[in-house]
Amino acid sequence: MSKPAIKAEGLVKSFGATQVLRGIGFEVAPGEVFSLLGPNGAGKTTTVNICATLVRPDAGRVSVGGFDVTRQPGRVRAAISLTGQFAAVDGLLTGRENLVLMAKLRGLKRGRELAADLLDRFGLAAAADRRADTYSGGMVRRLDVAMSLVGDPAVIFLDEPTTGLDPEGRLEVWRTVEQLAAGGAAIFLTTQYLDEAERLASHLAILREGRIVADGTLTELKQMFPPAQKEYVEKQPSLEDVFLAIVGETGQTGQAGQTRKAGQAGETGKNREERRPT
Ligand SMILES: Nc1ncnc2c1ncn2[C@@H]1O[C@H](COP(=O)(O)OP(=O)(O)OP(=O)(O)O)[C@@H](O)[C@H]1O
Ligand SMILES: [Mg+2]
Repeated sequence: MSKPAIKAEGLVKSFGATQVLRGIGFEVAPGEVFSLLGPNGAGKTTTVNICATLVRPDAGRVSVGGFDVTRQPGRVRAAISLTGQFAAVDGLLTGRENLVLMAKLRGLKRGRELAADLLDRFGLAAAADRRADTYSGGMVRRLDVAMSLVGDPAVIFLDEPTTGLDPEGRLEVWRTVEQLAAGGAAIFLTTQYLDEAERLASHLAILREGRIVADGTLTELKQMFPPAQKEYVEKQPSLEDVFLAIVGETGQTGQAGQTRKAGQAGETGKNREERRPT
């Protein structure tokens, strides 16, 4: 196995009397999407913040890109990007200016070119020169994710990156995560959407009451439970299928001015799929 991009051992963290992490450890390899799952308040953001040098652990150690987060925080920061759970966009600047500023902070030369490319990829070209405080919540989120990609960081932390995004925005983030991982970046993703973790993560861990209670690939986690009985069902299109068929992945309606009427069955309605009973 290649050298881990993130290696955490024995992490302990309390806030006052609240013991959040009680000794957790995990490793993330380059090119891997690691998803940390857990209920609200489990300590996912705390773990991300420790790995990203924003919070000091009470005990334990983390290395990111081979650098120790408490002893070499500057080196760690140069190697990572972080999209926090709450957006870090400056509302007084335009989308383009936010991206160009990020490129400057990262010491990059082709800031305007990079900004134009990211604005295009994240469907923000038309709004590029409007102040970010006029953006919708989803647009701010897209810009926030785009900002974290400036400079091709080797390790990318995405703390609930798709919360509040519409289905197309989510797909764009998913495709981007897949491309970044294929390019060798290590991705640390937290999400409340299990379908998202199922699609993206090559490695998952579940955090509960301060400890990691499951850690492995999706296949390994599924093997922890006995196989369910198989049954065959008619597959109805999901709301996401309907939404994307009507709006289109580019955000344009199929035929101008036409309203699709419910009841016009599409091919997807005829599909059969194998499903486990719930
Ligand atoms: N700076 C802080 N001061 C005091 N308590 C904190 C602080 N940061 C986090 N906590 C507490 O630590 C616990 C874990 O919080 P954390 O934000 O890491 O959870 P999370 O798993 O990210 O939850 P969510 O799914 O809601 O985002 C919570 O009880 C939270 O109230
Ligand atoms: Mg959180």
